Amino acid sequence: MKKKSKQGLRSQQWFGREGAHGFIYRSWVQNRGVPHDQFDGRPVIGICNTWSELTPCNTHFRIIAEQVRQGVLEAGGFPLEFPVMSLGETLMRPSAMMFRNLASMDVEETVRANPLDGVVLLMGCDKTTPSLLMGAASVNLPTIGVSGGPMLRGIYHGCAIGSGTNVWSMSEDVRAGKLSQDEFHEAESCMHRSHGHCMTMGTASTMACMVEALGVGLPGNAAIPAVDGRRNVLAREAGRRIVTLVREDFPLSRILTRHAFENAIRANAAIGGSTNAVIHLIALAGRVGVKLTLADFDRLSRNVPALVNLMPSGKFLMEDFHEAGGLPVVLRDLGRNGLLHRHAITANGKAIWDNVKKAECWRPEVIQPFAKPFKKDAGIAVVRGNMAPDGAVIKTSAATPRLMKHKGPAIVFNSIEHFYRRINDPKLPVTKDSVLVLKNCGPKGYPGMAEVGNMPLPPKVLRKGITDMVRISDARMSGTAYGTVVLHVAPEAAIGGPLALVQTGDMIALDVEARTLHLEVDEATLAKRRAAWKPEPIATRGYQRLYQEHVLQAHLGADLDFLVGGSGAPVPRESH
Ligand code: FES
Repeated sequence: MKKKSKQGLRSQQWFGREGAHGFIYRSWVQNRGVPHDQFDGRPVIGICNTWSELTPCNTHFRIIAEQVRQGVLEAGGFPLEFPVMSLGETLMRPSAMMFRNLASMDVEETVRANPLDGVVLLMGCDKTTPSLLMGAASVNLPTIGVSGGPMLRGIYHGCAIGSGTNVWSMSEDVRAGKLSQDEFHEAESCMHRSHGHCMTMGTASTMACMVEALGVGLPGNAAIPAVDGRRNVLAREAGRRIVTLVREDFPLSRILTRHAFENAIRANAAIGGSTNAVIHLIALAGRVGVKLTLADFDRLSRNVPALVNLMPSGKFLMEDFHEAGGLPVVLRDLGRNGLLHRHAITANGKAIWDNVKKAECWRPEVIQPFAKPFKKDAGIAVVRGNMAPDGAVIKTSAATPRLMKHKGPAIVFNSIEHFYRRINDPKLPVTKDSVLVLKNCGPKGYPGMAEVGNMPLPPKVLRKGITDMVRISDARMSGTAYGTVVLHVAPEAAIGGPLALVQTGDMIALDVEARTLHLEVDEATLAKRRAAWKPEPIATRGYQRLYQEHVLQAHLGADLDFLVGGSGAPVPRESH
């Protein structure tokens, strides 16, 4: 292994200088009591922290950061913690997703502009993971990801309840008259009772699994609960390890290879992971020059069974997943069945197979065996047709089997506000066979592609005991949600994609097995509608304008067009 010399460290071009520049670079850092020997050529490690009280899932990150700091010091490095824009999924409007790319710019520019040789990324709530990974990938220093870990199980009236998933089911129960408002309020404090991110297999848990499957995180990263002491140990080990990665001159791009992404895609299928992983992995791959497409997801997910019985597809929660052995068990089973690139290198310096081959499953009801999986062929499917020429996705493990082939008349909503205005109307011409279609919720249209694709069912249908309908939109949905929901339709309605032309009463045919989504309207009628279609104006200033002018479509990862790729870690010009 090639060793990085002291002179080769980029931090030495700040801290190793003489004269006025060296004085300036060192002296201000010493104002909090940093001894002079910290500038002697030891690796300087950035601890990139997304702590924020506006991101409830990341409010324990000061503790995690402290553990990383200890680890860096123990290994002979010099830790420097810094904040970046934090993205709280529950509070940010119009959507945390709109700010994913902005936060990634914050990470990229902060890392490159400062005297850092390596970086540890502290990530938890949904978008904090892809944004930090994307930013770090465009700089390509040695990098380790540390996830904050999931919350403990929610417990309500003696039963386990899961983040998001039971919000959706309980709110439907309220609307169907099965649960009172008081009971619903009581559940609020029962669902989220410890530090950590959503403890269903939602987007945060999925992305924590992706960090581990890609090899950017240490083994065990995905599932250890936030408040378990072992989460702190993992953070400390990451702090120690990053110093070695710098000394070994081991950039992130050595981990983020095509094989690593293929491992992540298959792992996502096996865990019944979130559809959001599709967008985030494509965007991340774009930052390191790996060409990942929707077709890769469809091809690689086929024949991968869902092994993990977690909400929203199943019934257990992340705490159970951890007790069962966590992601190493899933990766071991993929490896045993020819579905893992075993040699893919990971942040601890070992091949992924060496990390997982001896993993043991302690709760087979949570991680079911490959020969007797939780669900067969349950990955993310990509459907195409005249309604989605560039593709749309559906999470088959969370869908209702009988609706995977379905034809029905569209009920169209032009916005989510339009939907909420109409959905409770008893005169709405909706039946269980209708297809709910939602427009203008894509990357540019919302903007930020909000998680509104899992439209709640109309009370009229709910009261008949129906719990699922086909829903189609250019939106995303929360990874905690479920149902026969076709998402990420591309091109989106706001740029004049065919979705914009659908009208109430049009027949729509979905066939997941055949991978098709068809609008049964003749071309002449569609041409007339297309001629009459007019785009909505975009924002006139600020980040929202930048975003709407440059965001790519969902099938391309919804990155900003000018952020695709990387610029490495050259040391910038002097500032004084
Ligand atoms: Fe933060 Fe779900 S709201 S992970």
